[in-house]
Amino acid sequence: MNIKIYQRNYNVIELLVRGAGALLVIYWIMPWRFASHYEYIQRKDIRHELIDQVTSNISMQRLPPCEYNDILANNVNTYRTQFREHVLRGEEILPGGEYFPEDCSARFSTAIIVPYRKREEQLHAFLIYMHNYLRQQRIHYRIFLVEQYDHKPFNRAKLFNIGSNIAAEFEFPCLILHDVDLLPMNLGQIYACTQKPRHMCSALDIFRFTLPYRGLFGGVVAIRTQQYRFINGMSNLFEGWGGEDDDFFNRLNWHKIDICRFEPSYSTYTMMKHKPEKRNKDRIALLKSGYKRFLSDGLNSLIYKEKERRIHSLFTHILVET
Ligand code: UDP
Ligand code: BGC
Ligand code: MN
Repeated sequence: MNIKIYQRNYNVIELLVRGAGALLVIYWIMPWRFASHYEYIQRKDIRHELIDQVTSNISMQRLPPCEYNDILANNVNTYRTQFREHVLRGEEILPGGEYFPEDCSARFSTAIIVPYRKREEQLHAFLIYMHNYLRQQRIHYRIFLVEQYDHKPFNRAKLFNIGSNIAAEFEFPCLILHDVDLLPMNLGQIYACTQKPRHMCSALDIFRFTLPYRGLFGGVVAIRTQQYRFINGMSNLFEGWGGEDDDFFNRLNWHKIDICRFEPSYSTYTMMKHKPEKRNKDRIALLKSGYKRFLSDGLNSLIYKEKERRIHSLFTHILVET
């Protein structure tokens, strides 16, 4: 059979062969763009990779240490049963959105930092779902919402830098940098830090549960506070959508820090639907020249104004001008 394209006749077989050839060349030049298969930590190794480290108030508890093997081994799907249901027992969550189990001493203290502006409905669903989910993990955590309280383009990375400073005031040794619209679907994706910074949402529903490219390091990531400080945090210069997470990945690489992921069935997330944000047209250029600024643009050049701090029942709310 022949097909006519732009006045030329092509044989179907010839077209298929050419197409396959082109794909092979692209794969050969840029293999990282095809990452549906990626290296990951298997379930049996997860516990060993986690860093046991807590804030001083938790370390002073006189309780038996909490166990996590059942949570990790069973990896229960939590999505359908709890999504948006009000099953909070509010009295267990401390003011500011903090929680720790009372019958055992948590082994992990995690600050969950959420960059935010004008996503009220998502925030509501996020808080209810996450407190239900996280409480089942027997960890010590606190949710910090960093709201950009100005009219400039949204600066996700800068809000993470600000959040990391506030989490440090509270002595948290582990940071989870978390989009407000992402919900974990399996309990085994434990909200604790691994030796290596971890990309947690590598099986995301909007990407048909596959990883679009190996260097994707956005959405939800876990990183030890000391590592975040060591690489000078994230860039403050990415305004608007895109690129800041890729720059973060480049920073880690540049500092010879490898990343990790858990196996795909532990890394399933769902994204609450929303309209796409306005892209930052400078993002590609900023990304390319990022290498020159890793040491000068980040935590050490961070300037902002904290307008207010509010202690809500389900989260600590920090309003900032960027
Ligand atoms: N965000 C926000 N308000 C905005 C833009 C972004 O709160 O106007 C935060 C929010 O946490 C969101 C994250 O930044 O989940 C990433 O932005 P977005 O969801 O638009 O990016 P995507 O990952 O969907 O491409
Ligand atoms: C952008 C990232 C984004 C990713 C996935 C990339 O092109 O630079 O910021 O997270 O796409 O949407
Ligand atoms: Mn989103």
